[in-house]
Amino acid sequence: MANESQNWVLMVTAQTPTNIAVIKYWGKRDETLILPVNDSISVTLDPNHLCTTTTVAVSPSFQQDRMWLNGKEISLSGGRFQSCLREIRSHACDVEDKQKGIKITKEDWGKLHLHIASYNNFPTAAGLASSAAGFACLVYALGKLMNVKDDESQLSAVARQGSGSACRSLYGGFVKWIMGKEENGSDSLAVQLADEKHWDDLVIVIAVVSSRQKETSSTSGMRETVETSLLLQHRAKEVVPKRILQMEEAIRNRDFTSFSRLTCADSNQFHAVCLDTSPPIFYMNDTSHRIISIVEKWNRSEEAPQVAYTFDAGPNAVLIARNRKVAALLIQRLLYYFPPSSDDLNSYVIGDKSIVKDAGI
Ligand code: ADP
Ligand code: DP6
Ligand code: CO
Repeated sequence: MANESQNWVLMVTAQTPTNIAVIKYWGKRDETLILPVNDSISVTLDPNHLCTTTTVAVSPSFQQDRMWLNGKEISLSGGRFQSCLREIRSHACDVEDKQKGIKITKEDWGKLHLHIASYNNFPTAAGLASSAAGFACLVYALGKLMNVKDDESQLSAVARQGSGSACRSLYGGFVKWIMGKEENGSDSLAVQLADEKHWDDLVIVIAVVSSRQKETSSTSGMRETVETSLLLQHRAKEVVPKRILQMEEAIRNRDFTSFSRLTCADSNQFHAVCLDTSPPIFYMNDTSHRIISIVEKWNRSEEAPQVAYTFDAGPNAVLIARNRKVAALLIQRLLYYFPPSSDDLNSYVIGDKSIVKDAGI
């Protein structure tokens, strides 16, 4: 480190949106490397709505790696944070800031400590994929700070080791996480199926049923499913591989009828698999079930489906309207069934598909 003073701090801020799976990832074949039992497909949301903002800083004056999440210090001792930090450090390159007189070599990154501050502008651990936006943002920001030359796909394999769903948040638009075949996980990464401009008629409406932290984290929920559910084997081997192909085709052709049927069916099968777990896991609640009924009834009363619904590991509904006109009608209907005076729905968030971006701060 050819730096006169020990007082300098170098930092980068990045912003990453969350993503919502339309063909779900649920179940790992390797817990440490985070390798899934099936491929999955997601839509990345607009960072103006649900996103993580993470600042990563490095300074010779920092004594240890530390992280604050939503203003509270959290431990970095867990294997997932350690895997991401180790991987990204091993890909680090030389960094020079002539103005500040700072030069950090590849080797220095192994000795310097980091401070990380991250904020989610949406509920954490409530089934809106905070772990996806969170780990994708962490890896992306560290990659920028350390001048990592990897492309998004290589970075996705690092983010995957923080949280599986995070690998899909490195890209905008429609993204597939290929499960891969290799035991070392080298081919388990995300690829972009279509960018955020593709099929921009779609409007995503998120109905926040509860912001409370879920009782069963995704990680422990899917571990219990793998250990106890017979239905999961059938889903992973027989159902998902066919659905992935059909979903890719539906996205390519902007075929909302197929897209909607596949999305709803996959959400329902994922929750069926949770119910098939022992002890059963209930992520949805009565309000979630009411939303499903309202959308199903509406879709059946029309010639073709108008809205798709999908629920992650939590009660909150992600509703995908075929266009803006339908989205306006959808909000009207939600307000009718869940008036602002009712406690059932807290808020709506509306978004389009979008991309990872530097905050430019
Ligand atoms: P979710 O449905 O919100 O993804 P999970 O159970 O999958 O819930 O993951 C929640 C965990 O993800 C949190 O307890 C925390 O460890 C991690 N996480 C959430 N947000 C961030 C963030 N911004 N940066 C790093 N890790 C995060
Ligand atoms: C229901 O990626 O949160 O959202 O890999 O253990 O961190 P870990 O789990 P996580 O699981 C996401 C499950 C899901 C479906 C999906 O995003 O595909
Ligand atoms: Co998660």
